[in-house]
Amino acid sequence: MHALITGGAGFIGSHLAEHLLSAGNQVVVLDDLSTGSAENLSSINDHPHFRYVPGSVLDEALVDTLASEVDTIFHLAAAVGSFVIRDRTLQSLRTNIHGTENVLAAAHRHHAGVLIASSSEIYGKNTKVGLCEDDDRVVGSPLLHRWSYSEAKAVDESLTHAYGTELGLQAVIVRLFNTVGPRQSGRYGMVIPRFVAQALAGAPLTIFGTGTQVRCFCHVHDVVPALAALVAHQPAYGSAVNLGSCEQVSIADLALRVLALTGSASDIIHVPYELGIGPGYEDLQRRVPDCTRAREMIGFRPLRTLDDILRSVIAEQSQPGLAPTVVI
Ligand SMILES: NC(=O)c1ccc[n+]([C@@H]2O[C@H](COP(=O)([O-])OP(=O)(O)OC[C@H]3O[C@@H](n4cnc5c(N)ncnc54)[C@H](O)[C@@H]3O)[C@@H](O)[C@H]2O)c1
Repeated sequence: MHALITGGAGFIGSHLAEHLLSAGNQVVVLDDLSTGSAENLSSINDHPHFRYVPGSVLDEALVDTLASEVDTIFHLAAAVGSFVIRDRTLQSLRTNIHGTENVLAAAHRHHAGVLIASSSEIYGKNTKVGLCEDDDRVVGSPLLHRWSYSEAKAVDESLTHAYGTELGLQAVIVRLFNTVGPRQSGRYGMVIPRFVAQALAGAPLTIFGTGTQVRCFCHVHDVVPALAALVAHQPAYGSAVNLGSCEQVSIADLALRVLALTGSASDIIHVPYELGIGPGYEDLQRRVPDCTRAREMIGFRPLRTLDDILRSVIAEQSQPGLAPTVVI
């Protein structure tokens, strides 16, 4: 495979780049480093089959040139994280809608296969336990910035579907549920790296809202091989596929597990959403995937438990000389 990874200097993209290179593929990464970092690519920078191209998916000409050189595109570049969406709503919409259409159009022109990284945010406030790909979206007002990420990803999915059905683009949509592990930054609102940094610094762990909200966290090392397997699986083209873990944990219990595994004596405090994320923020009480489709297509079965995940993030953040920024 000769692959382009947009957003490849980010958390998931950099793990994917390592995975593809170790399997003997050639990899080009396009990233503007808005939330990613060159550091994430340090282990592969000198690899003979790797190239990093600084730039934006909003640069149509650059995306076109890169697409012409590859056979497969993993489109992961996006404005991600509740703090980013809150602080740069308009730019996030542009990146997440126009950036994706640039990638789809270029892939179509150059006959490349595409994997589009969508999100469980698609399902919005639908709290069904075991969300299936055909389940309804239940979302709030488009005038709340909180929903703009979900809206943009939904537009991306509709565009991808239309490029497939009307123009024959070979594309698979992957709906990622909470994906976590080393290199994920806590700066943009992600809960596990935030809690671990707070615990290691002896600062209070800040739970937004009641803490009764339930999530499922999947290790990036379980997700990345599934991304590679899905683009290699022809019957997946034309579909949306959930990827995530089914191990449920409330955010309050997550905080307690972080304290237990770090041995930290930090307090746990509750911060109202209005203060933590901003006015009008609506959280989701529960989000649990049904990954039957991914299991049937590619044998997807996450192997790592939540404790494995927490240990890997704690180990990363405990490295000498690495003092992650503590954010609320
Ligand atoms: N991590 C999760 O739990 C999760 C869940 C659902 C969906 N996703 C999706 O997975 C993808 C990767 O997310 P991540 O968690 O690795 O986040 P991330 O922020 O680490 O990665 C996104 C990358 O895109 C880059 N980027 C942003 N705007 C860009 C632009 N205009 N041009 C080029 N590069 C740009 C960033 O610099 C960053 O490296 C995203 O599409 C995200 O929406 C992630």
